[in-house]
Amino acid sequence: MKNKTLSILFFLLLIFFFWDCKQSNQQPKNESEITAEQKTIYLDKGKKIAAATFTALSQQLQKAVKEGGIPNAIQYCNLAAYPITDSLSQAHQAVIRRTSLKNRNPENKATELERVVLENFEKKAEEGQPIKPVIKPLEGQKIAFYAPINVNGFCLNCHGKLGETLTDENYQLIKKHYPEDKAIGYVSGALRGMWSIQLTK
Ligand code: HEC
Repeated sequence: MKNKTLSILFFLLLIFFFWDCKQSNQQPKNESEITAEQKTIYLDKGKKIAAATFTALSQQLQKAVKEGGIPNAIQYCNLAAYPITDSLSQAHQAVIRRTSLKNRNPENKATELERVVLENFEKKAEEGQPIKPVIKPLEGQKIAFYAPINVNGFCLNCHGKLGETLTDENYQLIKKHYPEDKAIGYVSGALRGMWSIQLTK
């Protein structure tokens, strides 16, 4: 009898132990795992990388427009956007991505986590609230930095309203390279997407 009680107790302990393990594995990474000081550091780092990437992409884009107009720039973006973000990713030891709910390149489609953040940004934009960059701790000593990307007048040449700011000719060229394009119909000031930069702790 004593033996039986003991084995039941042992069994219960085992269940408890595994249950506890399972629970701790399931723990989502929450913001409290980063100190306020770390938060400032990662936000700052993310902002700097985003700004540097934006400058690099814009400069090259402007140069391509100067050399051969918008059609040349479309072909250029098609070939150069990735090499530019990839080499900056290496230089900053980060993974730099641009993503959107209406992506042009299928490679830039939002992940589950990015989608949640993008929808939140979108909601804020609709309510006319300011959208601030955010950071989220990820598994494996990684930190995700997210910041909004807005459209200006120049962007409309390739992301604007068809037949208005975006010409049919240019759109045909875009469609040739990106048959699944969803990235048109924007007006100046609209939220186009976001930076998604993975930093290492
Ligand atoms: C000359 C045409 C052109 C102009 C001007 C342009 N883009 Fe794009 N944009 C593209 C192309 C082409 C891609 C796809 C690049 C790729 O293959 O990754 C793209 C991709 C993007 C993406 C990545 C997400 C996605 O949809 O695939 C964002 C964000 C973006 N553009 C924002 C902007 C903003 C903001 C501006 C203005 C500052 C701008 N673009 C100006 C052509 C353009």
